[in-house]
Amino acid sequence: MDLKQIVEDARQEHIPLLLDETAEFLLNFLKDKNFKNILEIGTAVGYSGILFLQNQPRAFLTTIDINEKMQNIAKQNFKKFNVEKRVKLIKGDAKDVLSSFNQKFDLIFLDGPKGQYIKYLPQLKLLLDKNGFLIADNIFFHGKVRAEGFVPHKHRTIVVNLRKFIDAIENDEMLMTQIYDIGDGISISKLKK
Ligand SMILES: C[S@@+](CC[C@H](N)C(=O)[O-])C[C@H]1O[C@@H](n2cnc3c(N)ncnc32)[C@H](O)[C@@H]1O
Repeated sequence: MDLKQIVEDARQEHIPLLLDETAEFLLNFLKDKNFKNILEIGTAVGYSGILFLQNQPRAFLTTIDINEKMQNIAKQNFKKFNVEKRVKLIKGDAKDVLSSFNQKFDLIFLDGPKGQYIKYLPQLKLLLDKNGFLIADNIFFHGKVRAEGFVPHKHRTIVVNLRKFIDAIENDEMLMTQIYDIGDGISISKLKK
């Protein structure tokens, strides 16, 4: 089976996944890395998780999703791609699950509810290995985060919270952050030495 098939099936069902440009960017980022413990918030159908595992042969993935239907599809996909032994799928609300870990992660991929990134940040910093990376996707939220002027009510909380998140990762004295105008906006943060 081809990973492209997963992407096509999900897009037909309007399930949001990594954009192609973002996937390509991540593949490049992964090239010289050797991650062991990856944490993902937002499994969906397992596409980004499979991408990480295929390109990080020594890595184990812990991935959280609140949606049972997504979890079931992801479970099947992890099996189809023979990575299921390297995955721990956790069903739950990330805000509850994040405080239950007693291990560190060398890569954290934040791709869950966009309005919650800022709330997760303090916990994510605690979970990050000293040489680890925190990557957050969709931080521009279809361009609305950087647009000037009126933000429609239904997007306001997400946009305001993403602006707070960007401000926090750029100005946090513990973090070094780069923001990339790729796909829907992606950030890569590291703990300062
Ligand atoms: C953008 S999709 C993830 C896409 C996936 N990372 C990929 O590219 O293949 C976001 C996912 O976050 C999940 N989600 C939304 N709110 C959540 C929450 N509070 N806790 C955990 N997962 C959540 C949704 O069910 C959805 O599957």
